[in-house]
Amino acid sequence: MKTLILNADESSIALAGKIIREGGLVAIPTETVYGLAANALDKDAVGGIFRAKGRPQDNPLIVHIASSEAVRPLVTDMPDEALRLADAFWPGPLTMVLPRSELMPDNVTAGLDTVAVRCPSSGIAREVIEEAGVPLAAPSANISGRPSPTEAVHVLNDMDGKIGLIIDGGRCEIGLESTVFDVRRRCVLRPGGISGAQIKAVIGDIDDFSRHDDSVPRSPGMKYRHYAPKAPLTVLRGSIGQAVAYVMARPAAERAGVLCFDGEEGLFAGAFTVPYGKESEPAELSRNLFGALRTLDGAGLDHIYSRLPENTADVCALLNRLNKAADLYIEL
Ligand code: TXA
Ligand code: MG
Repeated sequence: MKTLILNADESSIALAGKIIREGGLVAIPTETVYGLAANALDKDAVGGIFRAKGRPQDNPLIVHIASSEAVRPLVTDMPDEALRLADAFWPGPLTMVLPRSELMPDNVTAGLDTVAVRCPSSGIAREVIEEAGVPLAAPSANISGRPSPTEAVHVLNDMDGKIGLIIDGGRCEIGLESTVFDVRRRCVLRPGGISGAQIKAVIGDIDDFSRHDDSVPRSPGMKYRHYAPKAPLTVLRGSIGQAVAYVMARPAAERAGVLCFDGEEGLFAGAFTVPYGKESEPAELSRNLFGALRTLDGAGLDHIYSRLPENTADVCALLNRLNKAADLYIEL
């Protein structure tokens, strides 16, 4: 199958809607990452998503809607907390896990009695949903386990020949996936664009991801190794001086890459460095992380190193993704 990349405009969005109505797959931009979308009400179309990504069947998908009201037919109950969260954060990077209705095919929810729903703030994503006329099941548009795509070319690298159409909406604004929040359990399953503190400000105390022991997976998708570049990744916690000394002490023949902060490029002599933003700018680091991991991947390295940013509430999602991608964690 030939994979087309088209800029987002009226005719490409009309084509995307047509392909989805006919049971096909289209990659679309959202404010978080690119999604691989199909008609969420069509189990065969949804099956195509799992095949294209090589995704384990026990990992459920997020269903995307174009307006808050569209959640009603998908769920059996919309608790008061969910209504308030929808008012506060939809459209936007919050996914809510709610009791599923009979409309949801089993493969969307991986047989669970809940469904994850989100209304994206990306205008292009919502136009495609409107055009298709159905809710869209859409996981991140990467091959399972690889970094999520934040540009159309990343999608092409993973999905070339497997899907008919990629809608190019430029670079994703946030760059990390949505926050997944289980409304009944009042628990953050995956940290993301909306922080635990923002959720607490709307509905009161919740089980925040900041207290979470990362060794126990909370949502099915969190038990798999994720976001991983091809070369092993070692994350380092410590000062820049300690990190430089650690990387310099590596075996002489090792082709090393360093995912570093702006201004640190020259410090790791002999290593291939990829700066991804200022340490003090978590939003910028988040936006650039997955693209930087893909750049490192393309450089034919034996090993990648990355010093973690300071642990503040703002970097919760970023630290989560780096730790998930890592093979080894070293406290310097
Ligand atoms: O920002 C995002 O959320 C992006 C864009 C495309 O919207 N999508 C995304 O989807 O990241 P995906 O499939 O890569 O991640 C979905 C996560 C997985 O960790 C999955 O296990 C969890 O949501 N999930 C989905 N349905 C669930 C459910 N019913 N209960 C618990 N976790 C669920
Ligand atoms: Mg994903």
